[in-house]
Amino acid sequence: MPAPEPAAPTAATRPQRILLLGATGTIGSATARLLSQKGFHLVCLLRPRPGTTGRTPLEQELNSLAGTTLLYGELSDAEFLSNGALKNETFDAVISCMASRTGSPKDAWRVDYQANKLALQFAQAAGVRQFVLLSAICVQKPLLTFQKAKLAFEETLMQSGLVYSIVRPTAFFKSLSGQLERVKSGKPFLLFGDGTLTACKPISDDDLADYLVGCLTEASRHHRILPIGGPGPAITPLQQGEYLFHLLGKKPQFKRVPLGLMDFIIAVLDLAGKILPRLADKAELARIGRYYATESMLVWDAQAKRYDADKTPNHGSQTLFGAYEAWLKGEKLPERGDHAVF
Ligand SMILES: NC(=O)c1ccc[n+]([C@@H]2O[C@H](COP(=O)([O-])OP(=O)(O)OC[C@H]3O[C@@H](n4cnc5c(N)ncnc54)[C@H](OP(=O)(O)O)[C@@H]3O)[C@@H](O)[C@H]2O)c1
Repeated sequence: MPAPEPAAPTAATRPQRILLLGATGTIGSATARLLSQKGFHLVCLLRPRPGTTGRTPLEQELNSLAGTTLLYGELSDAEFLSNGALKNETFDAVISCMASRTGSPKDAWRVDYQANKLALQFAQAAGVRQFVLLSAICVQKPLLTFQKAKLAFEETLMQSGLVYSIVRPTAFFKSLSGQLERVKSGKPFLLFGDGTLTACKPISDDDLADYLVGCLTEASRHHRILPIGGPGPAITPLQQGEYLFHLLGKKPQFKRVPLGLMDFIIAVLDLAGKILPRLADKAELARIGRYYATESMLVWDAQAKRYDADKTPNHGSQTLFGAYEAWLKGEKLPERGDHAVF
């Protein structure tokens, strides 16, 4: 039974104290900055990094944000929960931007499902009433293990009785920045098929953070699954490539990668993975790559059996093409993580 819808928030009732998970990630760190700017008190629960000395530059930055406390610990550690710094802590809301960094099947179930479930159990025991989850739009067509793990947690959250918002964004800028350097250095832009098989409405880290933080107070985002894209129309990989060449003042140059090549690689890795489990993980990563080469990051219209850009809501003001311009002018390219395809 879902919790009753809260009254419209006022300055006095809006959530004040937030537990943020995944604050060292791309979207988590943008969310931490915004929460701090908006005057929330936040506790970032970070996983311990045994054997390291001192804080990373990002941890130092998080630690310096106004109203922010960093805690190191694992929700799976009963001792940490009962006797550690989280003992007797309570929060108005949890925001989880925590997700597997590798996307391998085992890690996806361990993080996207299990670790989030432990966070939910902590929230329930500590009397937290609201949970905002960063998920992904691709779970609407779940073919990959990490999508199934995310969906399983979404289901658990919906049954929890907490006020929930499940945010399913389209592609992040970092996932669409991998070819800048190769194009800049004179290489062709790589396309699957003709480059129009898929489309997405890229959303910037800051715009997505704004949407997530808005879930704390916007009652219309409560008890909802919320697909969300960035501003402007949907764009294809071909359009991304064309715009990059236009910015560089170069003649467009594309190299087409046949999907059959990916299928062949997946089949070989699947076979080899039966002997070496490490290669089974690589096969899953190749499947993830194939999925994004063939499926759009837009709302899927199950009746019409097609992706629908018009049904994919827009949020924010920062565009991917604006970011391309900034990056080409020398702004730092985003970190792309472990499972970037190219
Ligand atoms: N990339 C895209 O285009 C895209 C599009 C739509 C949705 N999404 C989804 O958005 C979500 C977040 O993406 P992101 O790029 O911000 O993620 P990210 O940069 O990879 O960050 C993941 C965060 O989760 C934490 N984490 C990972 N394993 C953990 C564990 N075992 N225990 C505790 N914390 C753990 C990481 O902490 P450490 O720093 O300690 O590793 C990090 O803070 C993912 O669910 C992704 O599927 C991505």
